[in-house]
Amino acid sequence: MAEASGKSNGASAGTVNIGGNAYKIVDHEYDVVVVGAGGAGLRATLGLATKGLKTACITKVFPTRSHTVAAQGGISASLGNMGPDDWRWHMYDTVKGSDWLGDQDAIEYMVREAVPAIIELEHYGVPFSRTPDGKIYQRPFGGMTTEFGKGIAQRTCAAADRTGHAILHTLYQQSLKNHAEFFIEYFALDLIMDEGVCRGVMAWNLDDGTIHRFRAHKTVLATGGYGRVYFTATSAHTCTGDGGAMILRAGLPMEDMEFIQFHPTGVYGAGCLITEGVRGEGGYVTNASGERFMERYAPSAKDLASRDVVSRSMTIEIREGRGCGPNKDYIELHVEHLDPKVIHERLPGIAETARIFAGVDVTRQPIPILPTCHYNMGGIPTNHKCEVVTVKDGDPNVVVPGLLAVGEAACVSVHGANRLGSNSLLDLVVFGRAAANRCAELLTPGESHKQLPHAGEEAIARFDRLRHAKGGTGTAQLRLNMQRTMQNDCAVFRTQQSLDEGCEKLDKVIGGRPDLRVKDRSLIWNSDLMETLEFENLILQAQATIRSAANRKESRGAHAREDYPERDDKEWMKHTVIWVDDSGKTRIDYRPVIMQPMSNDVQSFPPKARVY
Ligand code: FUM
Repeated sequence: MAEASGKSNGASAGTVNIGGNAYKIVDHEYDVVVVGAGGAGLRATLGLATKGLKTACITKVFPTRSHTVAAQGGISASLGNMGPDDWRWHMYDTVKGSDWLGDQDAIEYMVREAVPAIIELEHYGVPFSRTPDGKIYQRPFGGMTTEFGKGIAQRTCAAADRTGHAILHTLYQQSLKNHAEFFIEYFALDLIMDEGVCRGVMAWNLDDGTIHRFRAHKTVLATGGYGRVYFTATSAHTCTGDGGAMILRAGLPMEDMEFIQFHPTGVYGAGCLITEGVRGEGGYVTNASGERFMERYAPSAKDLASRDVVSRSMTIEIREGRGCGPNKDYIELHVEHLDPKVIHERLPGIAETARIFAGVDVTRQPIPILPTCHYNMGGIPTNHKCEVVTVKDGDPNVVVPGLLAVGEAACVSVHGANRLGSNSLLDLVVFGRAAANRCAELLTPGESHKQLPHAGEEAIARFDRLRHAKGGTGTAQLRLNMQRTMQNDCAVFRTQQSLDEGCEKLDKVIGGRPDLRVKDRSLIWNSDLMETLEFENLILQAQATIRSAANRKESRGAHAREDYPERDDKEWMKHTVIWVDDSGKTRIDYRPVIMQPMSNDVQSFPPKARVY
């Protein structure tokens, strides 16, 4: 379905013959095209629409079904509504949480912009929960502290436990109000690249089977993460790394792909998220003997230690035989002791999730939980203005003209090796807005487009090849092999042996691609073909992830190597950049971490510390 789309915006149509098959091509010209309508894509679209740039937002799902809708616990900002707070403390926590791999210019930008960004969201109409005196309610979240680690900060602004839902709906309504154009249920196929410059994107209209060539002076990738490379993930099934794969197919690299966040509290067996806000409201985890074991692993932060610490502690408890249940293979999360009024007002969503997916009444029973893949810290490398960068001839900051990336698809890098909970929604809105500002700085509305009559034909040829794939292996089989490999060999804890074995198994999956079978040859609502295109995207991300993980011989943030248990700043305080070609072959290089903040306002920071 297209809203305010196609015919009304001066689009023209023609036909292209590929492999003996005729494809109807619809041409469009925009100042900017945004791919993805989650929090980052919508915030960018809204910003562009209000700046008078002709903007199209292309999305494979209806905007309010984007994965941001699943974000529960909140969005961080040092508003200080519930106690003293300061952006410098937020910055310190984020740098420390990133295990010193975050770029400090981008982090300073994000935490300073957090306060006006939240006020702006409030004015747009986000229905935040309120304190008794009417201020935005803020809850504690892991790793968020006051006075550089001394106290626990209440910094995470919440709309009950449905904060992402509230933000997404508000941004979509505001975008419509500002006449943004949406192309809904259009699947982006590939970037249009011309001599190193991005000139737009090709897309498939799932509803009528036409192929669309969107030409644009700037293309903003806001396609989200790729959690579905794992067997269990909190990510929606739509999180297939489409933007990252388009980058790799364009011969550009991805950054820090080895850093995968495992959220400690996924529902056992189902993987669905139970928000960290539960522990922020006083929930806690126990092992089989009822012990609150986080007191042993993180004596001061306890259950509110950062996610990598809690996930590792839970995994150790299970491995050492202290897991719960008949198979001793999960941990329990308790909220039974909380006032039911608190659950009803602040955690209604998790009560429902626990009932549906674990059969548990949270007012009486603990929730069985396990760490589950939640977030990709790595992604498309960008500078803090959201421009995509690559490494070329020894220069690690070469801007790719015409291309920007935001949100989980991007690696700005504000999260480094580990993201703090509630910094993700913040990243989406701050950098979605920054991308719109950057486009407005660089573009004059209505500039003419370079003529490229054959643009996008390679993308259609790839599409045609997959549509007519006649092999003997179903996409689901290869996808399952990939997911099991990643789950078993590139998990919370890793060793050279597990990673090398994983690389071998993944190479076999990649080697199986020529034998793929797509049964449905139609062009309209062909989910067989769409899943195959998504698998093709996922497998490139999986390869980038496991190869980067096998290469990084230290432990940092979410990358926990049992054979290299220490962080090694001398060798490894650097970002991995990795290229993956279509045959799965990889090449690795590095970018330096930006240790220099944007301003001199951070001189009050204490010397760096790593104590939990
Ligand atoms: O636990 C949560 O509510 C997740 C939040 C986040 O990942 O930022």
